[in-house]
Amino acid sequence: MGNAIRKLRIGVLISGSGTNLQVILDGAAKDVLDVDVRVVISNKAEAFGLERARQAGVAAVHVDPTSFPDASAYNIAVREVLVEHGVDFVVMAGYMKLLGTEVLDAFPNRVLNIHPALLPSFPGAHGISDAFDYGVKVTGVTVHFANAVFDEGPIIAQEPVHVAEDDTLETLEAKIHEVEYRLYPAALQLLAEGRLIIEGRKVRIR
Ligand code: GAR
Repeated sequence: MGNAIRKLRIGVLISGSGTNLQVILDGAAKDVLDVDVRVVISNKAEAFGLERARQAGVAAVHVDPTSFPDASAYNIAVREVLVEHGVDFVVMAGYMKLLGTEVLDAFPNRVLNIHPALLPSFPGAHGISDAFDYGVKVTGVTVHFANAVFDEGPIIAQEPVHVAEDDTLETLEAKIHEVEYRLYPAALQLLAEGRLIIEGRKVRIR
């Protein structure tokens, strides 16, 4: 932490409420997280995360997938916004679209994702409810480097969350989010400090 480390210039991709984004913006503002959020991009115009970005004085850009002929053209547009804003790392925080190789290839080993389950279990858009409905006793949170498969790629950090007898989907969601708000900033700080080394499928923390 502090000024010794060059801040990690990140672009955050969202699709919704942006509570994880908010934790990152707050950490950056308080200088407890060595990241500089250069731009927030959403595929959804109504994503509240765009408003959170604006309130933090960060560029907020809606890239509308429906205004492009295909997914490739959309991903090229996303890439252009990231490059324009001088982004070094891409941070997906509730981004509910598959990120195209057009972006991934421009940021090799430089795209992170958070998922609200213990991958490789329960990938997809409903990780919390899928795990809850399955009846697992333990689920959790995963932070990982992203690849061209949704919710796949070398795992940086995982933390288990126990499902109690009296948990409802809502109480489980609250427990998962609480872990997310700690785990993602912690992983980003390790990244900012240059402490994450990818070795094949594995990530070593030095
Ligand atoms: C988070 O729980 C995140 O883990 C999940 O979306 C939520 C976004 O919430 N991501 C995925 O499910 C990715 N497959 P937020 O917009 O309030 O940060």
